[in-house]
Amino acid sequence: MTTAIDWDALATAATLARASAYAPYSGFAVGSAVLTDDGRIVTGANVENAVYGLGICAERVAIAAEDAAGARRIRAIAVCTDTEPPARPCGPCLQVMAEFGDDIPILLFSIQGHRQMSSARELLPEPFSLPKPS
Ligand code: THU
Repeated sequence: MTTAIDWDALATAATLARASAYAPYSGFAVGSAVLTDDGRIVTGANVENAVYGLGICAERVAIAAEDAAGARRIRAIAVCTDTEPPARPCGPCLQVMAEFGDDIPILLFSIQGHRQMSSARELLPEPFSLPKPS
């Protein structure tokens, strides 16, 4: 039996992570928290760069961290922003999510307290996948 997802714990972790965002160019801080299949919560925040295109989103920082920690599969993600309605993950982040879960539920929420549920498949119904070798 799988345990219920503790969305409040994920939201708290994403909110704390957002405080560590490095976003001096956009001024737009994002925090993310990933719940792994083995029950860990791993967080990320966006990290920008003077070479603008090198910036990386909070979601991909969190996913890279959980994957590098050996967790691999993702059960849920929370994303914290300072916008109403809460911001949605960008396309590249959704593609990266598709690598590590089939239809990951996503909590989008703002520091103002607005919460919205979505999922990776709802936001990116047909992610890229490599054709199976014949
Ligand atoms: N950003 C994220 O961290 N996650 C998203 O889903 C969308 C955008 C970041 C990238 C950049 O540092 C800032 O927000 C403005 O685009």
